[in-house]
Amino acid sequence: MTDALLSLHQVTRHFRLASGEDLHILKGIDLQVHPGEVAAVVGKSGSGKSTLLNLLGLLDTPSSGTYHCGAVEVSPLSDARLADLRASYFGFVFQQYLLLDRRTALENVAEPLLFGSARDIATRKQRAMELLDAVGLSDRANHTPSLLSGGEQQRVAIARALVRNPQMILADEPTGALDVGTGEMVLQMLFQQVRERHIGMVLVTHDPQIAALADVVYTLEQGVLNSEVAL
Ligand SMILES: Nc1ncnc2c1ncn2[C@@H]1O[C@H](COP(=O)(O)OP(=O)(O)O)[C@@H](O)[C@H]1O
Ligand SMILES: [Mg+2]
Repeated sequence: MTDALLSLHQVTRHFRLASGEDLHILKGIDLQVHPGEVAAVVGKSGSGKSTLLNLLGLLDTPSSGTYHCGAVEVSPLSDARLADLRASYFGFVFQQYLLLDRRTALENVAEPLLFGSARDIATRKQRAMELLDAVGLSDRANHTPSLLSGGEQQRVAIARALVRNPQMILADEPTGALDVGTGEMVLQMLFQQVRERHIGMVLVTHDPQIAALADVVYTLEQGVLNSEVAL
């Protein structure tokens, strides 16, 4: 095997309907993501992008095929091991920022550290501050989300996604709630973090212009993932 951060081989996902019929959403997906690489998956609404991202993020399991996170094959893992791997290996960014309203930016970023190795509060705060600084928001540490713009809230969410040093970022329409200019700025910041940290990222979006900012672009159509030839 290569040094891929994640590797899918012939992965499928189907859903059994009440009628007994099977809905084949993902068909024989092959995908590898390497350190420092941003892979975009572009597809129309309903094409299965979130279904794929849920599989990658260990929130769902393939109907068939194999999935490796690094060298670890995930299918034999228990729910507890999957939960541990999910929390340590992945950082998630969604269209909705999913910040805690009553907590400051700093507390929101520090929150995932509560579930890591038991570190004291001063260490957690220091670590969260480093990440807020990395996304250019150290001067907003004590603001609650309602005092921040959409772009700033998404940057807090990005800092939170990175705070446990994940190997991979999984982003589902991360600019979907932002205007074009802000969305692009936030995305460039996220890409820079991914490259600096030499981690990997999968970005799913329905927007081809957003996808074009990635290193590799895949299209998801009729359940089949194809790599797009660079223009
Ligand atoms: N648990 C499920 N049961 C049945 N169908 C599902 C389930 N989850 C997703 N789907 C269907 O799979 C298709 C792809 O959904 P989704 O992955 O959310 O698409 P996208 O994120 O690209 O908009 C949709 O037709 C959706 O209705
Ligand atoms: Mg979706």
